[in-house]
Amino acid sequence: MPVDASQALLCWYAVDKRPLPWRAKADEAADPYRVWLSEVMLQQTTIAHARPYFEAFSARWPTVEALAAADDGDVMAAWAGLGYYARARNLLACARAVVAEHGGRFPDDEARLRTLPGIGAYTAAAVAAIAFGRRAVAVDANVERVVARLFAVAEPLPAARPRLKTLADRLTPDRGAGDFIQAVMELGQTICLPRGPDCARCPVAAFCAGCREGDPARYPVKAAKAARPHRTGTAYWLEREGDVFLVRRPAKGLLGGMLALPTVTPPADVDWHDAGSVSHVFTHFTLEMKLLCGHTDSRLEGIWQPIARIEEAGLPTLFAKLAFRGAAWRSAPQLPMGVAEVTRAAAE
Ligand code: ADE
Repeated sequence: MPVDASQALLCWYAVDKRPLPWRAKADEAADPYRVWLSEVMLQQTTIAHARPYFEAFSARWPTVEALAAADDGDVMAAWAGLGYYARARNLLACARAVVAEHGGRFPDDEARLRTLPGIGAYTAAAVAAIAFGRRAVAVDANVERVVARLFAVAEPLPAARPRLKTLADRLTPDRGAGDFIQAVMELGQTICLPRGPDCARCPVAAFCAGCREGDPARYPVKAAKAARPHRTGTAYWLEREGDVFLVRRPAKGLLGGMLALPTVTPPADVDWHDAGSVSHVFTHFTLEMKLLCGHTDSRLEGIWQPIARIEEAGLPTLFAKLAFRGAAWRSAPQLPMGVAEVTRAAAE
């Protein structure tokens, strides 16, 4: 019979854990490269969404050396759809630093892991514990939720963060910290769910103050959030002989380094047609992007992608949605904007 919540979690995890592709098989050592890659992909991203990307990346670039030698554009395109594109740029920078400065071996402690590009407190702790068996405390949203419920922490997030980390530290065992971290995350993903915790199936219900109070879903308490601001913009679908004009976005800023439709008017003489707009939710704002479509004969300097193979360009989701609309406009009857407006006015 487990004597504390940590032991109970470890026992449950040993029996019930899911066979996720980055997890070491029984009697195999963890591969730090796969652990690191999975932890970077899983930040702000669900397992269901990240998993096919993990499988594709680890098949195409099976070692840190292979990833370090990859072409930047190939990595950015392979990341398309996963979001938070700074992670992809840092992923490459980190792989190259591991090869150039550490002989292709990830450092095995939190402090040195943190010196690498894109590795913050969470990733350093997760990799140190899961890949190297170090005692480390990694706190993500799942861990915050589980700990807030176990201890019925009434202080709202984000102010409660330091306290939740202290409590997670108190629960972390000296041996098996990697399994413990994954056990807590797994509990948060499968049983201690944000809206519907399934306490009847929970291995630590007997230790849980939130469950004892009768309403564990009220934790973690969250401070009221400001509404997301709304922004607008325009993108351009410019065709020439079955190709569409793309640009690579500047490295810094929104969707930095990714291929995209231009968002400033391309320098060509074009009759633009209004193809409606597309909305997309980013973490800090919502964006409504109007799409203008047109044809040109001019030889604009830049990237021309065959429209029939547009999905191979690796456009981020916002631009993939716009491209879908652009391609639909292409097969629809095309009236110049003035004519379309006159037709609409006549019909009213
Ligand atoms: N979320 C972040 N890291 C994870 C892991 N190693 N297993 C499951 N979920 C995770």
